Amino acid sequence: MASISRPSDPAGAVTTTFNFDCCLSDEARQRAEPGTMVSASGAPDDIVADLLVGQPANEALPLASMVEAARNALPENYPALLYGRRKGSLELVDVVREKLRVFEGLEVDRDQIIITNGSGQAIDMVLRTFVNRDQIIALDQASFGALFVRRVCDHGVHVPWDIHGPLPDALDELFAKQQPAIFYTIPTFQNPMGSTISRERRLEVLEICHRHGVPVFEDDAYYELHYDGERPPSIYELDGGTGLVTRAGTFSKILGAGIRLGWILTSPALADRILPLKTDGGTSPFASALAAEFMREHMEEQIARLQNLYRERRDIMLDALEQHVGDLATWARPNGGFFFWMTLRRPELLDDVLQRCERAGVLVRSGSVFRVDSDGLGAIRLAFSHAPHDQIRTGVRILGEAIRASEAANP
Ligand SMILES: Cc1ncc(COP(=O)(O)O)c(C=O)c1O
Repeated sequence: MASISRPSDPAGAVTTTFNFDCCLSDEARQRAEPGTMVSASGAPDDIVADLLVGQPANEALPLASMVEAARNALPENYPALLYGRRKGSLELVDVVREKLRVFEGLEVDRDQIIITNGSGQAIDMVLRTFVNRDQIIALDQASFGALFVRRVCDHGVHVPWDIHGPLPDALDELFAKQQPAIFYTIPTFQNPMGSTISRERRLEVLEICHRHGVPVFEDDAYYELHYDGERPPSIYELDGGTGLVTRAGTFSKILGAGIRLGWILTSPALADRILPLKTDGGTSPFASALAAEFMREHMEEQIARLQNLYRERRDIMLDALEQHVGDLATWARPNGGFFFWMTLRRPELLDDVLQRCERAGVLVRSGSVFRVDSDGLGAIRLAFSHAPHDQIRTGVRILGEAIRASEAANP
């Protein structure tokens, strides 16, 4: 075993573990505490129901078509194994443009898109472009973004929502008092809340952001996964390209999170300011070649398949909630995405309910993960995307039993 002698150790003792804590940079110290980041690794094997991570269903992962895409894309493709273009593979940029054109009627230029290592890298780069450590990031009432805020700055403020989205008065007041560096929102099939900001509210948000000069970051990871009901135009589109709104998207939900590809859509001028924060030798040209080939052949059919697959799981979870949870909690039916957001009628029992679920092998996510202040809001996020049908039914049944038992034990 390697031994390291610590120069600062007065006795000159030889130790077998190096204590790195005293050597960490300020940035490393200020990052999230270990353990507060969401694990992407999924759940252990001995679980009864995995309603935890927003992962695609195994059935959604197009392995056979990816093998075929590799056969078509790789022969003679030497650039696939060389360093890549800084803004990302042009063929994948063109795929993103085509996707925006087909699904949203949006025409964008090549120099408006940066390909990233998943949209996680996009979020990190955009936030670091706009936010200093001592500044504030405004966030949705509960937000996946809380995990990134802790890494980038010391302060996040959550804006309360009603069923249409962020409350305009609350947004206005927050901006007037605290002038956040950016408003990070997930307006469509939100993570974790499952809800969507209405068109009207998007326009109100835009007016407020313009008036206060607060840029908007629109994280649209779930835009394609639309099952029914309203899906308004993106905030980016409604803004008409003024440069106020930067938007991110991902292939994680369409193709599979393991492909690690996402994108930023912004103005060419802002793209040039964001790009210097990208120091990765070019987002994998290899993965990009496979993704581009797959998407050119299968984009529309794959997205339609996903919509059918997840709509069915959403409906199964909804039925199970009505049957097994009933009036013990409230939730709204999501029109897309991966999640139900369930608020207990007795919010103070959140921790107890979570512990009971864990003991019974049902994995769910506490609302506290999505708040910079770790206030769970008495809410639980349930992912219906990854679990097979029987796990969804069993998991929700056990969740209902856990809530009932918790209420009985705490009269
Ligand atoms: C809202 C949202 N944004 C971004 C991401 C990051 O996805 P990725 O880095 O895999 O593209 C996720 C993943 O769950 C998400 O839910």
